[in-house]
Amino acid sequence: MRDLTPPKDSLDPIEIASRDEITALQLARLKSSAAHAYANVPHYKASFEAAGVHPDDIHDLSDLAKLPFTTKADLRAQYPFGMFAVPRAEVARVHASSGTTGKPTVVGYTRADIDLWADVMARSLRASGTRPGDVVHVAYGYGLFTGGLGAHYGAERLGCTVVPVSGGMTPRQVQLIEDFGASTIMVTPSYALSILDEYRAQGRDPRESCLQVGIFGAEPWTHAMRQEIEQAFDMHAVDIYGLSEIIGPGVANECVESKDGLHIWEDHFYPEIIDPETGDVLPDGELGELVLTSLTKQACPIIRYRTRDLTRLLPGTARSMRRMEKVTGRSDDMMILRGVNVFPTQIEEQLMKQPALSPHFQVELFRDGRMDGMRVHVEALEGQADPGARARAAADLQKAIKETVGVSVAVQVEDPGGVPRSQGKAVRIVDNRGQG
Ligand code: DLL
Repeated sequence: MRDLTPPKDSLDPIEIASRDEITALQLARLKSSAAHAYANVPHYKASFEAAGVHPDDIHDLSDLAKLPFTTKADLRAQYPFGMFAVPRAEVARVHASSGTTGKPTVVGYTRADIDLWADVMARSLRASGTRPGDVVHVAYGYGLFTGGLGAHYGAERLGCTVVPVSGGMTPRQVQLIEDFGASTIMVTPSYALSILDEYRAQGRDPRESCLQVGIFGAEPWTHAMRQEIEQAFDMHAVDIYGLSEIIGPGVANECVESKDGLHIWEDHFYPEIIDPETGDVLPDGELGELVLTSLTKQACPIIRYRTRDLTRLLPGTARSMRRMEKVTGRSDDMMILRGVNVFPTQIEEQLMKQPALSPHFQVELFRDGRMDGMRVHVEALEGQADPGARARAAADLQKAIKETVGVSVAVQVEDPGGVPRSQGKAVRIVDNRGQG
């Protein structure tokens, strides 16, 4: 893999500014963002008053902890446009998160917000090793989902040639990557695996592909998966994080030269880690729920949004801005099996160590008498039909999960292609406990 470290003089000065400069900027911006939300969004005025606080009470960054949290339920209650802090006519674009149940959560952007988003996405691409002039293949979905358009505007802002393919039609993805000479691909890590399978199905060697950088996010993925993808394509695989409620992709991104966690673009998004049970702010370094506050957004300022994503804050390395560790999972995706907390990423980590199995997987929860059971559906590698080898792989994985995660699970090895694929975010958990 080539060294793609961006030249220092191509960075935004704030990326390598001193901590004092960063915190001074954050405090000034926090005051104005909180005042803007309070003055223009009735929900915030009411929630601040209920908590007995006023934006004027913010004198220090630690005063943020006095402000009330915002949750997904708060946003849903304001459906569709109740969280807008500007007249609807000043909103240049809306996006919405699908949500598995109930109404979607709607977010709005002024022209200045879209500009800001393009800037933080361009910064993310540059951190990933993408350069102006590169061909960028965008396979995140376009539409109300923020992935496609967020990536698109960022790549344009950096000065790249954008190929707006969106998800799906996997054979064509491979053809376009190769024919157009894409050096960067932006896609969910699970769909990247389907694209990898397609390279092989077409008899192409993925290591010979023109791709040099993959910018993967929108769902949890492990270091083990990074190694798998980097090896398979002979390219850098970096992590990008974001959520529609905050802006979309581009809240945090790994640097290609360090790949040691995602630098949060703290000049625009202020992070805190809280204890999900008590809501107390935890010191940097401790694992908890990520809470984010927007510092510069106009249409939908957001104060202390509870992301439900579990991670920890770490000091800056390649940039002065703090890092977040790779997300372990969403608290919603935590399965509790006989008292043990289990995340799909823990299963992924063990699966990646099994040479006879492909990286595709899905976890099924079922009812076993009065107990909950878990069955991990995995796939044999192409050409591996020997039942004995499959049984050994299942037993090995079962043992590894028991030893590292501490739970007994069933493992079912399917034929290649037997685990359902997605063209965006993978569905990792299927809950069949309600049946029977
Ligand atoms: O997934 C935005 C995005 C698009 C991020 C493309 C990165 C790339 P939502 O659909 O609102 O927005 O979903 C946000 O996805 O709260 C996390 O649970 C999860 N997520 C996003 N990025 C990562 C990541 C987009 N790098 C939700 N690692 C978030 C783990 C992630 N989980």
